[in-house]
Amino acid sequence: MEPSQRSLEFSLAYAVDLLARHSVRCIQTGLGTIMRSLQPSRPEPFQDRCRQLQDGFEHNIVIHVTALIERLMMIQTLALSQAERDRLLLSSMAVLRTAMAYHPPSRNLYARDRPMRMLLHLLHKPSELVVRATIETIICSTIDRPANMRTFEYVGGLRSLAKLDIKSDLPKSLVHALKAFVKHYTRPENEHAQTAISSSQAKRGIEMATGEEQRMPTMAAYDRWAAVYDSDGNILQVLDDAYIATHLPPLINTTSASPPTVVELGCGTGRNTIKLARLGARVVAVDNSAGMVARLRDKLAGDADASLAARVTVVMQDLSALPAGDLHSTLLQLPLQDNTVDGKDAEKGRVDGVLCTLVLEHLSLRTFFAAAASLLRNNGWLLLTSMHPDLGSRTSAGFRDPDTGAKVRPDSMNHSVEDILSAAAEVGFAVDGVVSEEGIRDSAHAAELGSRAEKWVGVTMHVGMLLRLHR
Ligand SMILES: C[S@@+](CC[C@H](N)C(=O)[O-])C[C@H]1O[C@@H](n2cnc3c(N)ncnc32)[C@H](O)[C@@H]1O
Repeated sequence: MEPSQRSLEFSLAYAVDLLARHSVRCIQTGLGTIMRSLQPSRPEPFQDRCRQLQDGFEHNIVIHVTALIERLMMIQTLALSQAERDRLLLSSMAVLRTAMAYHPPSRNLYARDRPMRMLLHLLHKPSELVVRATIETIICSTIDRPANMRTFEYVGGLRSLAKLDIKSDLPKSLVHALKAFVKHYTRPENEHAQTAISSSQAKRGIEMATGEEQRMPTMAAYDRWAAVYDSDGNILQVLDDAYIATHLPPLINTTSASPPTVVELGCGTGRNTIKLARLGARVVAVDNSAGMVARLRDKLAGDADASLAARVTVVMQDLSALPAGDLHSTLLQLPLQDNTVDGKDAEKGRVDGVLCTLVLEHLSLRTFFAAAASLLRNNGWLLLTSMHPDLGSRTSAGFRDPDTGAKVRPDSMNHSVEDILSAAAEVGFAVDGVVSEEGIRDSAHAAELGSRAEKWVGVTMHVGMLLRLHR
């Protein structure tokens, strides 16, 4: 047996022991260890072994976490405050749902009355979050399991949910969760998924099933995201900040034109536009989301340095709707620098640099690189960052709408690094230096970056590259 597999058995057994302790910290550590074992980023042999272990009682997560939830519901057995109890219930149910998705046969436990009654009991808790998580868990436990659904009906599940529904002041998130249940319940049972689903797919599935996930056209989504884009703790932005801090200043400082002119494609709220302008560049900031651009305009207008706004021209333009990717002719109408590098007319109006950060997943590669090439003078630079395909295979750009609680996801694509490089080469770009591929190395690194980083340990999240145009 591989050492990593031996340690998997040990760590699962140890985590299960921790769940049986009385201390909040031990239980949390146990749940955290289990959740990490279920990460889809784990190597295949690890995942295979972990699934195999779920077939036996000793390591079966659904059995042990169900026992933990039962214990948490008995006020007298654990001396916990209500808030501590709710937090542990939420974490336990999150682990339960992930484990059910990871190892579908484990859901069979919920064909029995007792665990299903336990879930119904949780529907009467005062905490909205606990009730919502319980509805999600009921959905998960009955996916592809008609026997479980019969048990749910037999123990009075429909009546319990109906009782919730008649409350006139039901919070929006519970209305969404109930609607999702109805959708799930009324779907013909032979249409339920027959195959095992990964935990990230399960999470997405739950979000979709609960109406918590809303796919929407890119611009509509960004118009809504604008309000919280700069403050929602997005880890990709943290990695991007580090990459940009290393690579952008030398580019601006070594460009011969003074000041250099840079076009930023998909500038958003101006996270990097402001940095460019502070470095002294003249910036043409292009985006098509009125919401995002309004934030940028506010920032420029409110900045103590009035010269900042004078250096930035904001342009609303859909980058997907350019004639043959030609952004140059559109922007030529603007007062860009009259660049006569090499004395060639062809270079007139072309700029020194293009910056594009975290936008590529919304654009076709061909359209994007044609637009960037149309803007740049010969040997001009393109500093490009994007969501890494490793992360893109697990998720896509999105945010939790604070008004509705729903996860909103703009339309997006997942481009491989090879496809990005070959589309760039087709129009004359060559890589200058190395392509950076960064992710969350380990828990210590995750702790440095913020609370949302932990779930991405081991995943490559960010790709960055400097390209030069050779005509
Ligand atoms: C994730 S944000 C990145 C914003 C900024 N570059 C940053 O790094 O913070 C993606 C931006 O791309 C813009 N975008 C996406 N598709 C676009 C399109 N077809 N035309 C113009 N802008 C687009 C969105 O409006 C949004 O502001």
